[in-house]
Amino acid sequence: MYLKRLSLTDFRAFSRLDIEFPRRVILFTGANAQGKTTILEAISYLANFSSFHVSQDRQLLNFNMPVEPIMVGRIIGEFYSRGREHTLEVRFIQEYNGNSNQARFRKQVLLDGYPRESAISMVILMWLVFCLKCRALLKARHLIGVLI
Ligand SMILES: Nc1ncnc2c1ncn2[C@@H]1O[C@H](COP(=O)(O)OP(=O)(O)O)[C@@H](O)[C@H]1O
Ligand SMILES: [Mg+2]
Repeated sequence: MYLKRLSLTDFRAFSRLDIEFPRRVILFTGANAQGKTTILEAISYLANFSSFHVSQDRQLLNFNMPVEPIMVGRIIGEFYSRGREHTLEVRFIQEYNGNSNQARFRKQVLLDGYPRESAISMVILMWLVFCLKCRALLKARHLIGVLI
């Protein structure tokens, strides 16, 4: 697997970051608090769906962004796996509900633009179609065998 590009929106101190990675060993250098660990944290998040720094995902939202009824932080990774290009996106969504001051927080994961659950169902559906085709082929082979 090779991570080609990483985009962050309102993830920790980054209001916006886009990096295209060369296919080589990469070294991040910089003064303290420039965001080196944040980049590693975002990549690790895409692999584990959890942060190695905080226990609550809401702490990953950029706390400097303006307060809006809906606030969204994003990690998007474009990667190659088994010769195919994919996009994995994690959205951190904080919503203020009407008159209450309580914020509702949720996370959304999209693989190639589809919510993760649907992406998994698509794989299951493709397997079903594949299996049905195999059954049809086996039946046809059996019939040919009987005719011969
Ligand atoms: N949720 C957040 N919103 C805004 N800034 C944040 C958030 N979490 C951490 N930071 C800021 O990010 C900086 C730390 O970045 P970090 O990736 O640890 O830097 P480095 O590894 O280069 O030292 C600090 O200035 C910290 O205050
Ligand atoms: Mg660091």
